[in-house]
Amino acid sequence: MGKIAVIPGDGIGVDVTHEAVKVLQAVNEKHGLGLVLEHLDYGAERYLTDGTTLPKGEIERFEKEFDAIYLGALGDPRIPDMRHGREILLAMRFEMDLFINLRPVKCLADRLCPLKNFGADDIDFTVFRENTEGLYVGLGGNFKKGTPDEVAINEDVNTRKGVERIIRAAFEFAVKHGKSTVTMSDKSNAVRFAHDLWVRTFDEVGDEYPKIEKQHLYVDALAMQMIKNPKQFEVIVTNNMFGDIITDIGAMLQGGLGLAGSGNLHPGKTSLFEPVHGSAPKYAGKNIANPFAAILTAEMMLDHLGHTAAARDIGNAVKLALEEGQTTADVGGSLGTREVGDWIIEHI
Ligand code: NAD
Ligand code: IPM
Ligand code: MN
Repeated sequence: MGKIAVIPGDGIGVDVTHEAVKVLQAVNEKHGLGLVLEHLDYGAERYLTDGTTLPKGEIERFEKEFDAIYLGALGDPRIPDMRHGREILLAMRFEMDLFINLRPVKCLADRLCPLKNFGADDIDFTVFRENTEGLYVGLGGNFKKGTPDEVAINEDVNTRKGVERIIRAAFEFAVKHGKSTVTMSDKSNAVRFAHDLWVRTFDEVGDEYPKIEKQHLYVDALAMQMIKNPKQFEVIVTNNMFGDIITDIGAMLQGGLGLAGSGNLHPGKTSLFEPVHGSAPKYAGKNIANPFAAILTAEMMLDHLGHTAAARDIGNAVKLALEEGQTTADVGGSLGTREVGDWIIEHI
C-alpha cells in the first residue's frame, strides 16, 4: 500500500510538506516500502492562475488510484472567502465521506507541557471529530444581504447515521486500544434538537460497550477541563465545529500547533492526512515553521497504511529531536524548518 497524492497547498504548508516528503523518502528507502508520491499543485496559486481548485473527476481519481492523500495546508490572504479551501479540503472530506477526523493529543516531552503540575504523561488522548456534517455542510444563505435587515443562516445538520457512526468509531477505538472512558461533548443544554440527538445516540451506542465508561460534558465545561485536568481524558467524540476548536486547544497541550497531526478517515477508503495547523502566512517561505506536525502526520499516514516499523522510526526520531532540543524556535530550539528535516532524516 503506498500510492500517495501530495498537495503542499499554501503558505507554510509548502515548507512543512517539503520536510515531511524528505522523511517519507528516507523511510521508503530504509524499509523498502515502495511508496510512490505524486505531487499536485492545488492551492491558492493555481486557483489565482487558472481558476482551478480541484479539477472535475479528481476526487474519483484519488479514490480509485491512491491509498492516501497528504495535504500541507490551505489558506491565502488573497482569497479571503477561502473558496479554494472549501473546494479542495472540505470537498475531499465530504465527497470522499471521510467521517472520522482523528486528532491525537499527545504531549511528547515534559518541557512542552504548558500546564503547571502536569507533564507529558498526563496528556494523551484522542479526539474523534465528526467530519462530514454539522455547521460545515454549507446549507443556508443570506436574505437582504448588505442591508440593515440582513438575515444570515448556516444550518447545523446532524443525522442519526452521521452521529452514530462517529460515536461508534470512538467506542471501537477505545476497545481496540484498551481505553476505559469515552467522553462525548455537545451543547445539548442550549441546542436542543440537534445536540439531543447526540445525547440519545451516545447513550444507546454506549450501552453496547458496557466495559467502557461514558462521560458527557457540555463543550464549555470540556474546554475548561482540558486545561484543569487533561489527564482524565482518553477518547473524546464531538461534532465538526467543536472538534475544530478543541483540537487547537489540544494542540497547545502538546506544545503548540507545530506538533499536532491528523487523519481524515473512512475505514476501507482512501484517506487524507494533514497537520492540524493552517498556512500561517506570516511564516511562509521563511524557514521558520515547525515541520513536526507535518512529520508526525506522515507517521500517522504510514501507520494507517500498515507500515508500522517505518512509522515508529519517524516517531522515535521526533521524540529524540525534542529531547535534544533539535527543533525550531516555537518549541525552544534554534534550527530552521529545513535543518530540522535534515536532522530527522539523519536519525532515521
Ligand atoms: P494557523 O494554524 O495557520 O496559524 C496560527 C498560528 O499558529 C500561527 O500564526 C503561528 O503562530 C502558529 N503556528 C501554526 N502552525 C505552526 C507551525 N507549523 N510552526 C510554528 N508555528 C505555527 O491558523 P490561522 O492563522 O488562523 O489561519 C491561517 C490560514 O490557514 C487561514 O486561511 C485559515 O483558514 C487556514 N487554515 C487551514 C487549515 C488547513 O488547511 N487544514 C487549518 C487551519 C487554518
Ligand atoms: C482544520 C481547519 C479547517 C476546519 C478549515 C481550514 C476549514 O481549521 O482542519 O482544523 O475548520 O476544519
Ligand atoms: Mn482548525
